[in-house]
Amino acid sequence: MKEFTIHTQVKVYQEQELSDEDRALVEAAREATKRSYAPYSKFYVGAAARLANKQIICGSNQENAAYPSGTCAERTTLFYANAQYPDQPVEALAVAAQTQGSFLAKPISPCGACRQVILETEHRYGKPVRILLYGTEGVYVLEGIQSILPLQFDQDCLL
Ligand code: THU
Repeated sequence: MKEFTIHTQVKVYQEQELSDEDRALVEAAREATKRSYAPYSKFYVGAAARLANKQIICGSNQENAAYPSGTCAERTTLFYANAQYPDQPVEALAVAAQTQGSFLAKPISPCGACRQVILETEHRYGKPVRILLYGTEGVYVLEGIQSILPLQFDQDCLL
């Protein structure tokens, strides 16, 4: 028997420690929560992607009475960014969530399906997506999806 350990490093920043462009991205994700359509969960999630040309694209979760037809904020945002600006690599993605009128103290982390879509975005553009997960107690920063999506299924598995 052999075993190996998978390591996840999360940097936790106070908002004022972030660079101006990362702070602006987090603010855009917070703003995007206001455009969430979440009448069922009442869990309002916003995301903001920064493209290589520095344009910021926002999205939010969009729910549906047929629950599985809804989509998370991360996927709404990445699919829109990739569909509208296919030639612009996604540099960074910020996520924020609020419920019962306040932002969460601890950040939420993308669901499994969204992690897989972030992975595809990284492969598509050949570079990691910097991920900023906003919580009022601190912003978790991940340098790419690798550390929270180990043992990945990607295009190499299809060969
Ligand atoms: N949701 C997101 O938009 N992003 C996440 O990272 C986690 C969950 C949404 C899906 C659903 O509309 C609501 O939050 C409750 O799960």
